[in-house]
Amino acid sequence: MKDALIIFDTTLRDGEQSPGASMTREEKLRIARQLERMRVDVIEAGFAAASNGDFEAVRSIAETIKESTVCSLARANENDIRRSGEAIRPAARGRIHTFIATSPIHMEKKLRMTPDQVVEQAVKAIGWAREYTDDVEFSAEDAGRSEIDFLVRIFDAVIQAGAKTINVPDTVGYNVPEQYAATLRTLIERVPNSDKVIWSVHCHNDLGLAVANSLAAVRAGARQVECTINGLGERAGNASLEEIVMAVRTRADVFPVETRIDTTQIVPASKLVSQITGYPVQPNKAIVGANAFAHESGIHQDGVLKHRETYEIMRAEDVGWGANKLVLGKHSGRNAFRARLQDLGIEIESEEHLNHAFARFKELADKKHEIFDEDLHALMRDETVTPETEHFRLVSSRFHSETGETPRAELTLVIGGAEHRAQAEGSGPVDAAFKAIEAVATSGSELLLYSVNAITTGTDAQGEVTVRLSKNGRVMDGQGADTDIIVASAKAYLNALNKLQSSAQRLNPQV
Ligand code: KIV
Ligand code: ZN
Repeated sequence: MKDALIIFDTTLRDGEQSPGASMTREEKLRIARQLERMRVDVIEAGFAAASNGDFEAVRSIAETIKESTVCSLARANENDIRRSGEAIRPAARGRIHTFIATSPIHMEKKLRMTPDQVVEQAVKAIGWAREYTDDVEFSAEDAGRSEIDFLVRIFDAVIQAGAKTINVPDTVGYNVPEQYAATLRTLIERVPNSDKVIWSVHCHNDLGLAVANSLAAVRAGARQVECTINGLGERAGNASLEEIVMAVRTRADVFPVETRIDTTQIVPASKLVSQITGYPVQPNKAIVGANAFAHESGIHQDGVLKHRETYEIMRAEDVGWGANKLVLGKHSGRNAFRARLQDLGIEIESEEHLNHAFARFKELADKKHEIFDEDLHALMRDETVTPETEHFRLVSSRFHSETGETPRAELTLVIGGAEHRAQAEGSGPVDAAFKAIEAVATSGSELLLYSVNAITTGTDAQGEVTVRLSKNGRVMDGQGADTDIIVASAKAYLNALNKLQSSAQRLNPQV
């Protein structure tokens, strides 16, 4: 019998801390349902005290998810912990994850607290959290740069106070595998009652070592790994869930643990997260990159055809490649459409909502004959836009681009209920479209990123555009999808403007 390795997914919390990747409540719910379908053990649904929107998102996930534990992050203060406690109250299984920094630099420069005060605060935090649940996790932020004697002391104190999971984050991605594994081994040896708790790891990827560090720690005794889909997360991201899960499964000879994950749900989860956040997956990314199972060289192709295992250590279908079959076409009816949305975990709120989405599906099917799951996700993402969240809307567009002529865009937009026409020239049609929007929206925001991806294959694929805008220190990503990539670009720009317009200020737990 192997030990269970608990998979703690923090895509909805640490993943959401990636610049511009903030998600709406509906988007988070959709990802949470996919994580549950994948049989993730713990879903860190958010940081409930960050804003009212975050609180509501954690609460909705706690109300909806039945098979996974739902967790909220909280700094080690009473207000954060009580907000988390309230947010997870409806959960079938709820966890509070509280943290405080323990490295000399963080305690002195950020918290301005003495080590004694930090220990005292951590113990109090566990007490507040236990008023809501017995499932309390404690993290020593920046443990990777903390003194081992101090870690032993604070972990001893929080275990005595009732913490059940002890997390040792490499917050700034500074550790290397042997060192990190040695830290885990030492802690497990030296902390009293270490066998009564689950040891957890949480690694950031600043040196590209997050997965290697996490796996080294598993060999040293860690039994929970905190990770994210596609390795999304602060700065260079977190350890990637798909890489951890597949390493443990493929190298069962090396790791004394097994996970409960349904690996065939990995690729659908990766695509969903990428579409919702607008963070594309690099083609050569392990497991979920488009080329992860593609063999280009003749020698490799020949080998795989003769015997698959000559060059493949995993089967593409085991991680969900190929699950994305052609699902619907222009002759598909309303019931088939509804059934496929249900399979994808996309909720339909009412018959009216279904009719509206189905009409848009028919329009798309007229332009693009084969509709794949990714097309449905993109279509339904636009359905979550409501008049309250859509201050800026594209009504119609016309673009002119010809050899030797300056590209021009003419747009009709609705801004705050009033119709405006705008036109502009640019270095290309996308540039012209953005200038036309700015001519009437006058947002003054700065364009930080523009990227286009084909949602599926083929020249009739929808282009999916991500636009990152920044204004007054806030950064938002907008997405737009259309078979015409200039229209998709205009939609993405307007989507980012809508998010800048509507989203309330939120706290980042580490700031
Ligand atoms: O990186 C980190 O230290 C964190 C903690 C809050 C667990 O995300
Ligand atoms: Zn983190």
